[in-house]
This record gives sequence, structure tokens and C-alpha cells, in this order.
Amino acid sequence: MRKKIIAGNWKMNKTVPEAVQLAREVVEATKNAACEVVLCPGYVCLVSVASAIQGSHVKLGAQDVHWEEKGAFTGKVSCAMLKSAGVEYVIIGHSEQRTYFHECNETVNRKVKAALRAGLIPIICVGETLQEREAGRTESVCEDHVRGAYQGLSRQDALRTVIAYEPVWAIGTGKVATPEQAQEVHAFIRRLLGSMYDSEVSAGIQIQYGGSMKADNAGELLGQKDIDGGLIGGASLQAQDFKGIVLSC
Ligand code: PGA
Repeated sequence: MRKKIIAGNWKMNKTVPEAVQLAREVVEATKNAACEVVLCPGYVCLVSVASAIQGSHVKLGAQDVHWEEKGAFTGKVSCAMLKSAGVEYVIIGHSEQRTYFHECNETVNRKVKAALRAGLIPIICVGETLQEREAGRTESVCEDHVRGAYQGLSRQDALRTVIAYEPVWAIGTGKVATPEQAQEVHAFIRRLLGSMYDSEVSAGIQIQYGGSMKADNAGELLGQKDIDGGLIGGASLQAQDFKGIVLSC
């Protein structure tokens, strides 16, 4: 049985004091969570949020990472730096990174390998644009993202990853995928993992849905057999909205 994971991706929102405040509220509001709860604040907020959630059920995630261990990479943050700040999860290959910051399958793959080497759990984002969906390319795009991200990964490594299926057209748009549309792609990704590895890997990897998930649509989405949680943007910025999703698990 896969445990569901609800992760809040705060993106470029919240100053340090605001992040600490929200983290405290989330700890309180989600005390009775049946799922794993993860908060992914901006880099500068990680250390303070780590203290705010210390000793609670809430886990810390980052929104990106660089693949090199150290060196002259101005502006970048390494896996070791994240680990030392108390981070356990890291979002890799988010569509905003792919769209605005030249993220590609190769950089995703390098980041996933670096994260696994450092003992971080990568949350690997995959998903099609509206144009790709309308062209009937949803499955081929997701397959390309998944194969690219898992290139060279052993089955043991694969079992330490999480996937987030995020249709780009549903991110921040209010246009949520229907539970059936999401389930169809999740099932496809799970079959793909089975063909790349084996049935244990396919059954073991948690696949979150992301894209305009809110308290009022979370229950139906999370009720689908292959949807193992959510990666939440907008609705993770208020503790009460986020709580509504967490309690739908
Ligand atoms: P959204 O973002 O919930 O605001 O659509 C999800 C994400 O980008 O992870």
C-alpha cells in the first residue's frame, strides 16, 4: 500500500517570517494527517522552516537543486547544502523550470542522480502542455520525461523516487484535470515503470497529481487508484486551504 504524499510547492512566494508563520500553521492544521506532509519553501526560508517544523510530522522539501557537488556555480545550491538544512525531498524538473530556465531531460536526470547519491528523495515532475495534449501526444511526452529522468537508475534507486504528474495546462490555471483524465495518465506512467523495471517498482513508486488541486476537488482525485497524493501550488499558500487537501487523503 503506497502512502499518499501531499507536498506544498510555495514557488517564489513568502518571505522568511511569512514562511515560518505558514509552516507553524500547517503543523497545527495537519496534526491528524493520514498522509505524508511536505513543505517546499524558497531556498532562503529552508533553515527557518526546518526549525519551525522540527519534531513535527511535517517534512521539508526544496524546489530545485544543482547536480554538481560544489564549485563555481554562482546562484546554485547543492544537495549537500540542502541536506545540511534538514531537507528530505527535492522537486526536480518542474514545468516552470523546463519552460523558463532551460531544464531538459538531461539536467533532470543529473539532478535526480545527485539527489539520490545524497540521500534526498526526488519528486520528479512530468507532464504535457495543452498543445501536446490536443495533438494526442500526452503519453509520448510523459514517456519521454519519465525515461529521461530514470536513465541509468537502478531499480533500488527508482524505488526511492516520487513522480508528480502535472499537466502544464492545469498548473495555476484553475483548469484541473478530471479524475478520469488524471487516472488515465497515472495508470499509463505506472505501466511504463513496469516495463522499464518490474511490477514491484511499478507498484511501489508514488505518483502525485499536480495542477489546480484544491480542497474541493482533492477528494475525487485522491480517490483514484493510481493517484498517490498531490503537489500543490496556489492552494498550499494558506494553511486552511492546504489542510482541506491533506484531510482528503
Ligand atoms: P497549482 O501548482 O496547484 O498552483 O496549479 C501546482 C504546481 O505547479 O506544482
